[in-house]
Amino acid sequence: MCGIVAYFGQKTAQPILVEGLKRLEYRGYDSAGVALLDNKKSFTVYKTSGRISAMEELLPRPANPATVGIGHTRWATHGKPNTTNAHPHIDYTGKICVVHNGIIENYETLRKWLQKEGCTFRTETDTEVVTNLIGYFYANNKTKDGKQAPKDCHRFEWAVQQALNEVYGTYGLAILCLDCPDMMIGVKKGSPLILGVGENEYLIASDAAAIVEHTTQAIYLADGEMVTVSKDGFHTKTIGDQDVQKELTAIEISLDQIELEGFRHYMQKEIAEQPKVVETCLGGRIDLKNTRVILGGLQKHFRELTRAKRIILTACGTAWHAGIVGEFMLEQLARIPAEVEYASEFRYRNPILEEGTVVIAISQSGETADTLAAVELAKERGAMVLGIVNVVGSTIARTTDAGVYLRVGPEIGVASTKAFTAQVAVLAMLAIELGRRKHLSFDAASHLLNDLVQVPQKIKRILDQSDYIKQIAQANLDKPNWLFLGRGFNYPVALEGALKLKEISYIHAEGMPAAEMKHGPIALISDQMPAVFIATRCSQYEKIIGNIQEVRARGGKTIVVATEGDDSIRPHADHIIYVPDICEQLQPMLTVVPLQLLAYHAAVLKGFDVDKPRNLAKSVTVE
Ligand code: AGP
Repeated sequence: MCGIVAYFGQKTAQPILVEGLKRLEYRGYDSAGVALLDNKKSFTVYKTSGRISAMEELLPRPANPATVGIGHTRWATHGKPNTTNAHPHIDYTGKICVVHNGIIENYETLRKWLQKEGCTFRTETDTEVVTNLIGYFYANNKTKDGKQAPKDCHRFEWAVQQALNEVYGTYGLAILCLDCPDMMIGVKKGSPLILGVGENEYLIASDAAAIVEHTTQAIYLADGEMVTVSKDGFHTKTIGDQDVQKELTAIEISLDQIELEGFRHYMQKEIAEQPKVVETCLGGRIDLKNTRVILGGLQKHFRELTRAKRIILTACGTAWHAGIVGEFMLEQLARIPAEVEYASEFRYRNPILEEGTVVIAISQSGETADTLAAVELAKERGAMVLGIVNVVGSTIARTTDAGVYLRVGPEIGVASTKAFTAQVAVLAMLAIELGRRKHLSFDAASHLLNDLVQVPQKIKRILDQSDYIKQIAQANLDKPNWLFLGRGFNYPVALEGALKLKEISYIHAEGMPAAEMKHGPIALISDQMPAVFIATRCSQYEKIIGNIQEVRARGGKTIVVATEGDDSIRPHADHIIYVPDICEQLQPMLTVVPLQLLAYHAAVLKGFDVDKPRNLAKSVTVE
């Protein structure tokens, strides 16, 4: 996912852009660049493939004094990750400078038309097409059907509008024009973009993390909206040139939430802060006395929700794993038919959404393209669409009819950890409350909610075993393939454990329901393939012990996550990690923690970049 930071004010822009881009590094990128509007007469561009530190080598010291500039970290979608294709891009006339996050779907058609009109291109990117398109309308002063452009600097805004009317796709853009040095434009459609409003200074960014040290006041642009910044202030309108009133919103994350706070990696910090953030996620939402749950964002929708004939949970990756837990909870506790769907599949398979279907999108970032597309499809089909999202003001949060925020603070590490635990917590609260409005007894709900509020303390007890879990990772570090196995509520945790190991330690791993092993994968068992079993006290405990024995009988090594005090499991395990007891439905919030730590330690021991694993981005805003 690309990162955008732009500055317009009275301070030197260069260091502000560089520090802002560094706060976006976690999103994953392969090149970086900044453009400065030098003494308001020319653009100076510094860009390179590789890390921001490589770009910093190109920057002048002392810093270029320009007070207006735009910066970008690129995650390549069109065109190789190299210096030429890095942003910012300048159009063929040299007057327009752009950074872009998103995908221009019809860029090839537009490129051919612009070339016929005499435009030249230097890169393979879709971004240069939109840059030249703006430059074309700005230089030619007329629309495609010959209408004259306005004469003054509104011509800059007008040219941006004309260009974007020709574009299909998604974009977050920050744009400068050499003839209008006292203006900067931001436009949003399908990729996040906010305007930070400071003291006589403005910052446009794709993520609040990049601007929060300068201002905590922001406006979140909606799709199809643009903001023009000048020394007289800012104004917002649609790309169709209709004025739009936008309210200033307080940015909810603080700088220290973003900083590492003494941890070695963001992932390590986010695993460790799960007790605290789960407490925040649950805070004020559980009424133990009446065994009820208060989810403010859904209050107006509970009536329809309770009557739902079917609930479809749609998500990607880790969020999809949480969705499976949610499916089991909704069916078991609320007795509402539920199913979970990969958003990437759901959006293309022309699903049947009959009357009474509710769709729930789960997304940490709230910007995942496939999940957003699934939301939009469900809305088009008339379903009620809810969101379980972490990032406040994100596109999915603003596109759904209502939802529940995770409240776990920014998740910076690419490997999702605290978001998963909180997603399960929110799904548990939702299932219990729906159950209470249907047939779930007071006692059953009371037992569940009392266990739920103890989760933070219980996670702490698991975190204390981090060094021991590191030894297990060390002992199996050379094994090229791992199996993760669980049953019932712990089956999706097995999938999650495999994903964690794969995505940061690059060790191949496969998760599956433990009973599925005998339908093929058991052929793989050897002492070179660690089998991680989640064998906590649950309704299928005896069955999973049988699965463990099947593996050991064939010489397989077993790493077992078991319930504290369960000594009978010892003969079946080469390594045991104990977790506190808790009701079955909530076990995923505990059993996932040892697997997060296993993956984290394996990756660190292998010397990999835990927070920015190769080929991955924190939020996949492209298909
Ligand atoms: C999980 O560790 C990965 N980072 C990835 O699978 C992620 O969960 C997925 O891309 C969904 O992201 P979202 O929750 O922001 O929509």
